[in-house]
Amino acid sequence: MNLGDTAEIRSLMRPDRVHRSVYLDPKIFELEMRNVFGRAWVYVGHESLVPRPGDYVTARIGSQPVVLSRHTDGRIYVFYNSCSHRGAVVCNEEKGSTKLFRCPYHGWTYATNGDLDAVSMPRGYGESFDLKDPALGLGRVARVSVYRGFVFASQAQSGPDLEAWLGPARESIDEMCDRAPEGEVDLGGGVHKYLFRGNWKLQLENVIDMYHVPFSHESTIGAGGRQFGRRPGESAGSAISDRGAAAAKWEQRTAWGARDFGHSYAGHQPVAEQIPDDPVFKAYVAALEARHGRERTLEILRPRRHNTAFFPNMTLQALNHHVRVIIPVAVDRTEIRVYPVKLKGAPEELNRGFVRQLNITHSAASLIQTDDLECFRRCQEGIEAQGSEWVWFARGIDTDRPDERGDLVNNGTVETQQRAQHAAWVRLMCAAG
Ligand code: FES
Ligand SMILES: [Fe+2]
Repeated sequence: MNLGDTAEIRSLMRPDRVHRSVYLDPKIFELEMRNVFGRAWVYVGHESLVPRPGDYVTARIGSQPVVLSRHTDGRIYVFYNSCSHRGAVVCNEEKGSTKLFRCPYHGWTYATNGDLDAVSMPRGYGESFDLKDPALGLGRVARVSVYRGFVFASQAQSGPDLEAWLGPARESIDEMCDRAPEGEVDLGGGVHKYLFRGNWKLQLENVIDMYHVPFSHESTIGAGGRQFGRRPGESAGSAISDRGAAAAKWEQRTAWGARDFGHSYAGHQPVAEQIPDDPVFKAYVAALEARHGRERTLEILRPRRHNTAFFPNMTLQALNHHVRVIIPVAVDRTEIRVYPVKLKGAPEELNRGFVRQLNITHSAASLIQTDDLECFRRCQEGIEAQGSEWVWFARGIDTDRPDERGDLVNNGTVETQQRAQHAAWVRLMCAAG
């Protein structure tokens, strides 16, 4: 296969199916790191993880190690985690706070914006070596932009700005932030991590897949086809298996996918949200009402979006608040980080409850996430079998319709969102430059 030939790439992703090599071929993975992760706006972290000057977190943009750091000027910088001397990773910690980054190998130091601070034993460098050369700083990632605290970076020098890239998917971030009485979220509630034996796209395709729920998560359904309660104060969860009205309700879910940049969401099931009557939730509602008034507060408490996937590496869930980051490691290895989302200005007890609930639903030992992980492992293993050349994404293809922006819309348990992801994948993989 000649991967320099865009016709070859296009032939691997058809509107209704994907060639299995897209999940298996290490050369395709390498090209994805260059063309998808090298061109997209990639989520790298959240402002709440680096609140004070000197705070930093390390992250990856595809295969590239980077540091996200808040400098003494209060601004956020994203630079490659690779010493300008001989390339060692300068910062080995996942997060922390520092005045300077010091390379472990020969001791060069860097400021928290990546600029070279000093080289050790400078007299050993002759006159010809210019220590003031800006190229001796840690290389900055070409573009960094922040939307309501969510920090994205792009390795492409030019292209659409972040707001245009996110498009209508921005509203999922808005919905989440608006649920915080202070209008901001806090991701500093810890992190769940796990590694699975499968391709990174399996996770991205899964979060907005409403077709798998009653089957993969069958063990979480009690008598009557109801899942355990997943909302504060809820004693019985929503009906998710095909009994009675459940199927009809699922057909009302919105499916949306942007073919240009690949973002997508699964709409919220039209459940009658009960507003819990306990004092903690009442205090939360009162804080929201103080800011927004009664009508808007009721709107905020009934989010329209359930799961959103920001192509290529971040997902946001409204039900059990979390941000999930997808880190491709190899064609058949993926690391996932799950950050609970706390609502700034909400009672501490409510936020603690959200974090606790996420342990049950999305930790590495949870009741729900483990079902998906087992399916990813089985997909990777099964796709390696010779049985079929294609992986199918045809569900709902005849009923997809364009909205006013030309994005795809549908309803129910369709594969519209994955088709949008695949369209964006082809566009980026085949883009010139
Ligand atoms: S590799 Fe960093 S100081 Fe030598
Ligand atoms: Fe799932």
